[in-house]
Amino acid sequence: MKVGEPEKFIVKGKRLDGRKLDELREIKIEAGILKRADGSAYVEWGGNKVMAACYGPREVHPRHLARSDKAILRCTYNMAPFSVSDRKRPGPDRRSREISKVTREALEPVVFTNLFPRTAIDVFIEVLQANAGTRCTGIAAASVALADAGIPMRDLVPSCAAGKVGGEIVLDLFDVEDNFGEADLPVAMIPRKNEITLLQMDGNLTQEEFEKALKLAMEGCIKVYELQKEALRRKYGGA
Ligand code: CDP
Repeated sequence: MKVGEPEKFIVKGKRLDGRKLDELREIKIEAGILKRADGSAYVEWGGNKVMAACYGPREVHPRHLARSDKAILRCTYNMAPFSVSDRKRPGPDRRSREISKVTREALEPVVFTNLFPRTAIDVFIEVLQANAGTRCTGIAAASVALADAGIPMRDLVPSCAAGKVGGEIVLDLFDVEDNFGEADLPVAMIPRKNEITLLQMDGNLTQEEFEKALKLAMEGCIKVYELQKEALRRKYGGA
């Protein structure tokens, strides 16, 4: 047993933080909190605190990256040094590059990039506090920031993970479950099309467990989707 590893993850049907197996952590989303960004969002998701800022469509620098047929979408995921318990060395690393890449791939299918040739749309995701699931929190925040910037999109992109702890499939792992659990399956999707734009997996699942976890994560996405829409409605009104 590793240091800090709990003896049991599930006691009487409840998880270590008191949640049911299919229960999300508390999520708060606020749209448009940064004055100088074209669009922004702040998301608190359990112990995660994540800010997203969107700029553009704007001129592309360096110029050679510009595309004559569409806008380029650039995503930068960054973790503050104070966001985790062991200080994180500032600056990009393998993990942040990977998360930036999958975030862009998760969001790009909904953005009408063809409407803005020769421009860039930049999205910055800053993790101020981390407690597992920061890529999902970041994607959820980024798509609200894109909408807040008025970027034409087919839909919002909600994101949520499911995983396996103590032999059970559970929704939305928090840090102890993520560190010592058996699997983590982050998912992002386009609800209107029922299409998946992010699917990653850490650990091992049988096919049956995988299917159950995927279904649970997609249900989690739909709950996040409602909160994203609510946040935009609070700022802009409308039905
Ligand atoms: O955050 P996410 O689950 O999307 O990505 P991960 O690579 O699976 O990281 C899981 C968690 O490990 C993060 O949310 C942080 O809480 C923690 N972590 C950390 O403590 N120090 C790091 N340098 C990176 C991650």
